[in-house]
Amino acid sequence: MIDDVNIREARQEDLPALTRIYNQAIEDGTTADTVATTVAERQRWFDAHRDPHYPLYVAEMGDEVVAYATLSKYREGRPAVRTTVEISYYVAREHRRRGLGTALLRHAESSARSLGFRHGYALLLDTNAGSVRLLEKLGWARWGHFPGIATVHGETCGHLVYGRSLAAEPTTA
Ligand SMILES: CC(C)(COP(=O)(O)OP(=O)(O)OC[C@H]1O[C@@H](n2cnc3c(N)ncnc32)[C@H](O)[C@@H]1OP(=O)(O)O)[C@@H](O)C(=O)NCCC(=O)NCCS
Repeated sequence: MIDDVNIREARQEDLPALTRIYNQAIEDGTTADTVATTVAERQRWFDAHRDPHYPLYVAEMGDEVVAYATLSKYREGRPAVRTTVEISYYVAREHRRRGLGTALLRHAESSARSLGFRHGYALLLDTNAGSVRLLEKLGWARWGHFPGIATVHGETCGHLVYGRSLAAEPTTA
């Protein structure tokens, strides 16, 4: 397990590492984005998370950024759902299965709660068994399934929606 990880808000100089981690997920087929991206292309995404209400967190070990998580808007412009937030998380391939996903997801949940969000959700491909296991282990529930709506590297798959109430601190491991 990890014991030397520091989670903090992202800085501009983290963007190359964040882009590399995201491109690994694209290559692995665990995101609906299917074309490798560049640091320049990711700048807009990064800038959207300068909003203190929708932060971007990185996990670093030593001086290496090894994972990140974001809070993102749900249905912008719809006041009725403004206390709902999307949580996304990505761990560098070579650092998976060491507890980073767990630590980041917990951090993102706690941050979202502090920011006043009442519900969190995650969107993932239904082929993403690792993410499903992680979410279920941390007490998230399956809220929905859009079957067969995606084509990732030539394979048809669907989108799962997982969610949880953020009303209270979770009690699961
Ligand atoms: C899914 C992901 C975030 C998991 O991160 P991680 O740091 O490996 O997760 P953890 O080490 O905290 O794992 C916690 C638990 O999740 C489950 N899990 C994680 N990866 C798994 C995998 N590949 N297969 C099966 N179970 C897995 C296990 O139950 C694990 O506990 P264990 O190691 O004690 O068995 C990581 O694989 C990843 O970044 N994938 C690509 C990006 C992605 O899918 N993001 C989600 C879309 S928003």
